[in-house]
Amino acid sequence: MAIRHIDVAEVRTKRLALSQFVFCQGCCCGRTDRGKPELPVEWLKSQWKEKSLGKAVQLTISGCLGPCDLTNVLCVMGPGGQRWIGNLSGMDDYREVVAWAVEIARAGETAPVPEPLASRVFDRFLAEREA
Ligand code: FES
Repeated sequence: MAIRHIDVAEVRTKRLALSQFVFCQGCCCGRTDRGKPELPVEWLKSQWKEKSLGKAVQLTISGCLGPCDLTNVLCVMGPGGQRWIGNLSGMDDYREVVAWAVEIARAGETAPVPEPLASRVFDRFLAEREA
């Protein structure tokens, strides 16, 4: 089946953002009742508000993003593409994520993945090869 490429300039939003942080809270991510790491949703919301990240860096809590074997999952989207990070666990990780969002908001452009999270970046569309 051929994929039709759409000219993205045809439609534009009035709600421009520098970046969008999508935290998964689905069937696995954040499900402490299933032995998975906590997703501190209320803390994240309060951090976004306290640090005035507002619309510059959009915070989204979503349903399952797909790669449940890498709980907890975060997808960060921006003009340069998307970064997927898995195995987030503990407040140190979430503090790094918030600091990253602050850096993006202050710089007014995308910023590289913070070093403490870099080893957990994965390609969402590249599966692990079977031996
Ligand atoms: S529940 Fe998070 S990837 Fe499925």
